[in-house]
Amino acid sequence: MTPQDIRFSVAPMMDWTDRHCRFFHRLLSRRARLYTEMVTTGAVIHGPRERLLGFSGEEHPLAVQLGGSDPRELAQAARIAEGFGYDEVNLNVGCPSDRVQDGRFGACLMREPDLVAEGVAAMKRAVSVPVTVKCRIGVDEQDPEEALGRLAETVIAAGVDGLVVHARKAWLQGLSPKENRDIPPLDYDRVHRLKRAHPGLPIAINGGIKTIADVREQLAHVDGVMVGRAAYHDPEILLGVDALFGEAPPHADAFAALEAFEPYVAARLAEGVRLASMTRHILGLFTGRPGARAFRRHLATEAVRPGAGLETLSDAVAHVRRAGGALEDAA
Ligand SMILES: Cc1cc2nc3c(=O)[nH]c(=O)nc-3n(C[C@H](O)[C@H](O)[C@H](O)COP(=O)(O)O)c2cc1C
Repeated sequence: MTPQDIRFSVAPMMDWTDRHCRFFHRLLSRRARLYTEMVTTGAVIHGPRERLLGFSGEEHPLAVQLGGSDPRELAQAARIAEGFGYDEVNLNVGCPSDRVQDGRFGACLMREPDLVAEGVAAMKRAVSVPVTVKCRIGVDEQDPEEALGRLAETVIAAGVDGLVVHARKAWLQGLSPKENRDIPPLDYDRVHRLKRAHPGLPIAINGGIKTIADVREQLAHVDGVMVGRAAYHDPEILLGVDALFGEAPPHADAFAALEAFEPYVAARLAEGVRLASMTRHILGLFTGRPGARAFRRHLATEAVRPGAGLETLSDAVAHVRRAGGALEDAA
């Protein structure tokens, strides 16, 4: 894995970054690295694999994120994911939900660097694609200087190919997962120091980064930036990503990207996928522009109707085109 591979990525987000979402994001950037939602090793090994791991070839470069801590199961799940064609296997050491803590994985693994390293080593033996870890800077009363440093050193010794650090602690008691994404303060300097301590290891920073200008600022200190909520809620920012690689975006604007989304939507509709399962990921488009609210409202009420088809999508877009036209006429 090269530092370039992780220069920009869209974060793994449960219930959000499913395959439809990722296909749509790919129409806005050829270069962004995309991540699946977290899938547990148990689900990968025993569950409906095609439904959990299936994706479209267009989604590359694409990483699968695993949740688990048993090294043998991690190795088995990583091998299965590699068979599906993923470009990277990422281990979740950052999720603080109770369900995850019961399973002894996610952020509570910040306390068990040796177990994380065993998992990384087992996955490295099992697959030839890069193995990475996404972690926090610490949990609870841990000192981030010591906790993040120790986790990094341990997984580096186990052969990890890259790290993504969500630059805040997780508090395992008393905060919901949502609060754990906002309340513990961000500490970007801690991640910058980690990069200085490990110049040879690709390191990406994550948390609270909202614009391409912010991304550029971060790239002075680290190899990569992972953006989650801002990319989901305002996907048009992804049109600025390929410029970070000196390239033009795949489509000139959101209208053109949506047109390119239509054949995909039509194909999935023909397979029986509901329109709303796809259009829910585009509700953030046109944010702040005239017609955006009507666009959202149209999709929210019409796309959920049984049998809703492509015309619902074009009718929604027409609200924005009309509003934009009216504005220009008025000017
Ligand atoms: C709805 C939602 C689901 C998330 N699910 C995951 C997940 O499955 N795995 C993970 O590592 N992080 C998950 N996260 C955390 C994000 O990957 C990211 O670390 C966090 O949102 C901070 O980045 P941001 O400020 O750019 O959003 C999730 C975040 C959100 C908002």
